[in-house]
Amino acid sequence: QGKRDLAGKRVLISAGGTREYLDPVRFIGNPSTGKMGLALAQAAFHRGASVTLVHGPASWDVPLGVQGISIINAEQMQQVMLEYLPDAAVIVMSAAVADVKPRDYSTEKLAKRSLPQALPLEPVPDIVAQLGQLKQPHQCLIGFAAQTGDIVTPANEKLQNKKLDFIVANPIDQPDSGFGSDNNQAIFLDSHGRKVEIAPCSKLQMAHHLFDFVVSGEI
Ligand code: C5P
Repeated sequence: QGKRDLAGKRVLISAGGTREYLDPVRFIGNPSTGKMGLALAQAAFHRGASVTLVHGPASWDVPLGVQGISIINAEQMQQVMLEYLPDAAVIVMSAAVADVKPRDYSTEKLAKRSLPQALPLEPVPDIVAQLGQLKQPHQCLIGFAAQTGDIVTPANEKLQNKKLDFIVANPIDQPDSGFGSDNNQAIFLDSHGRKVEIAPCSKLQMAHHLFDFVVSGEI
C-alpha cells in the first residue's frame, strides 16, 4: 500500500488494556494485547499521518516515528485522550478499557489473609462517550465493540449512545480473531446506518480497511 492519503492529518489512537490496581501487585484488567491499536498506528503512519498512540501495558515497542504515550489506568488514558483530542482529525478508541475499578486502593501490598471477601467496585469514566460529547463535526470518532453472540445490536447501541461516527463490531468468540490474535474480522457500522462486513484478515489489513473508509467517506 503506497497511499499517503492521511498526510497532514493527526490521528489519535488508544490501544491495549487498562489496569485498575487494588494494591501494588493486584489489578482488574483484561486480555487485550493492543495489537489492533498497534496495527492502526502502523497503517496511519504508513499513510502519512502524524500518529499518537496512547497505550496500556504492552509487550511490543511503539513504531519509530509514532508518538507513544504509555498509561496504566482509565483515568490516565482519559487525561491524555482529552489533551490530544483538539488537534486530532481521526480518533480511534481501540483500547479495551476496564469498566470498573476497586473503590479502595492500598499503597501497601495486602496480605492474603486481609484480602476482602467482596471487592467494592466503582465505574471508570467512559472515555469514548466523553470524546463523543466534545468532538467537533469535522473530527471522525471511531469506537470498537468486542462482543460475543450477536455483535451488531450492541455495537449499534454503542454507536448511538456514545455519539460515534463509526464502530468496529468485533466477534471475540470466533477462532483466530479478537484478543491476542494477529488476525481479526469485523462489521463496520456507521452513523448513517451503513453496514460493511470485513472478512477475516490480518489486523494490519483491518487497519487499512478502516482508514480506507475514513478517507473515502464511504462509511
Ligand atoms: O466496553 P465497551 O464495549 O462499551 O467499549 C466500546 C468502546 O468504548 C470501545 O471503543 C472502548 O475503547 C470504549 N470505552 C471507553 N471507556 C470505557 C469503556 C469503553 O472509551 N470506560
